Amino acid sequence: MYPGATASVQEILQQFPQARRDLLIPILQAIQERHQFLSRQSMIEVGQHLKLPVSKVYGVATFYNQFKFQPPGKYHIQLCRGTACHVGGSSPLLETVKKHLRIEAGETTRDGIFSLEVVACIGACGLAPVISINGEFHAKLNPEKVIRILDYYRKMEKEHGNRQ
Ligand code: FES
Repeated sequence: MYPGATASVQEILQQFPQARRDLLIPILQAIQERHQFLSRQSMIEVGQHLKLPVSKVYGVATFYNQFKFQPPGKYHIQLCRGTACHVGGSSPLLETVKKHLRIEAGETTRDGIFSLEVVACIGACGLAPVISINGEFHAKLNPEKVIRILDYYRKMEKEHGNRQ
């Protein structure tokens, strides 16, 4: 292992000793499964293992929207864009969340509190439009309600975050 290499990434790479380039996606999937995202360092190490420039690794990873490049926030928001939620107004909801948190889908706020993911139907169409925060559903939302919910989580975090 060379200086600066990440033990857990190297462990995963050892499971792919053949270093074939067609293993790039399975390797990235394995790293994300363990770390929940792909760090720049992990992509450098994958590139070294497969003898690919990091720009190529990054280019392939960004092509697939299954990959994340930032660690998830403490509160992970899944905003449903399924049909029922779309009809119920998920678009203005998404715009509100992005603007309020100042992030795009797939990103994490700078303070690490929230991350946002846009998902297909999460199986609660009767509650549309719906978001889930760490698996807890918030139903029949509109922009005002979603702001209140986000502010509530942020306030809770400020008051109790350090005690958890
Ligand atoms: S469409 Fe949103 S929960 Fe089904």
